[in-house]
Amino acid sequence: MVYTDLPYDAETKAGFARALFDHLDRGTTDLAPEVLEIDARVYSDPALAVRERADLFGHVPIIAAHGSELPNRNDFLVAQLPNNEVVLVRQADGQVRGFVNTCRHRGARLVNEDSGSRRFFSCRYHGWSYAGDGSLRAIADEPTFGTVDKSCLGLKEVPVEERHGFVWVVDSAAGDRKIDIGEWLGAEFEASLSALEMDRYTCYVAGNFDVDINWKVLMDAFLDGYHIAYAHTGTVAPYFYNNLQTWQPMGRHGRMVSARKSIDKVRGQDPETAEIDRHITVAHFLMPNMSVLRQPDHLEVLNFVPAPGTATGTRMQMRILTREPAVTDEQKARWDKNWNILMAVLRDEDLVVNEGLQKAVSNQDIGPLYFGRNEIANQHFHRWMAAALDDPRHWG
Ligand code: FES
Ligand SMILES: [Fe+2]
Repeated sequence: MVYTDLPYDAETKAGFARALFDHLDRGTTDLAPEVLEIDARVYSDPALAVRERADLFGHVPIIAAHGSELPNRNDFLVAQLPNNEVVLVRQADGQVRGFVNTCRHRGARLVNEDSGSRRFFSCRYHGWSYAGDGSLRAIADEPTFGTVDKSCLGLKEVPVEERHGFVWVVDSAAGDRKIDIGEWLGAEFEASLSALEMDRYTCYVAGNFDVDINWKVLMDAFLDGYHIAYAHTGTVAPYFYNNLQTWQPMGRHGRMVSARKSIDKVRGQDPETAEIDRHITVAHFLMPNMSVLRQPDHLEVLNFVPAPGTATGTRMQMRILTREPAVTDEQKARWDKNWNILMAVLRDEDLVVNEGLQKAVSNQDIGPLYFGRNEIANQHFHRWMAAALDDPRHWG
């Protein structure tokens, strides 16, 4: 196994060790001040789903791809976001731009492949053709079409920024939306994320899963370290301590550190010097819908993207990023094995439980739901969501 050292300074690592050792000794975990009650309709209300798309996802940046998925000029990738399906295109100057994947003529889906490399995009319906910068190059049989201003009929563009190795998009072509990832992440959280050097990783595999589960149900499943011992008995439960983590809010986002059972090997040691790097998982939760999990030898990135036009449909995107590109059969076999484990955890356990939950919370007479003090990261998420929707001009 190729482990990389935890990319944090000695004081930060010692802080992780102190907190986790202390929780282990006392049978505790980080706690919120009180139990939080929420209305179960947040997972199914169609009116709320419409507001989330308009007031939240139309304004805040979300990850649409890793840069390594479109490394070269003219490379493109299609991403389904909450409001629009977009085509991301690597430009001649190396920047990535994003366009709504709809032909400006009569609305055909312009790009029908998931990814590839093209100098221009022709619509399969009537042959209009667009350059990689989104501009309309040619109208088929133009003299018969009539007079239109081609310079105004380029593809609708969404704001894009590439940072920390990822391509971020604000999912709106309204024209008045800005994108500023540094501002969005905040200095402290951004420092914690940039230590991971995600721009030096390569996306080994990206998978999409379309499920009938509200995106917040899925986000909740990853924010919660309380279910591992019960829902993951067939997979990872033997390897992780249940209900034992530290939660550090960092502005609107937050960082969670969990202990693997292998931490017992270093548990009696001085926290200042104990080598905990291989024994913990560091998760960064990015509001509103993303998680970057640092495993000791790779990254797992999850996005829970609300599907357009539905209150409960979600496209879950999962990526494995590796420090070195997988070239040999041996390397590929190793990451395929990791992927299959993730699949088993998700498909056979998390998704089964949460499909049931989605149906069950649609029962009419269920009363409120509760997040315990130990579900501190979930509480952060739900409080943040409520505040963000309350005043969409000031997220967080
Ligand atoms: S809809 Fe694209 S060319 Fe007609
Ligand atoms: Fe889970």
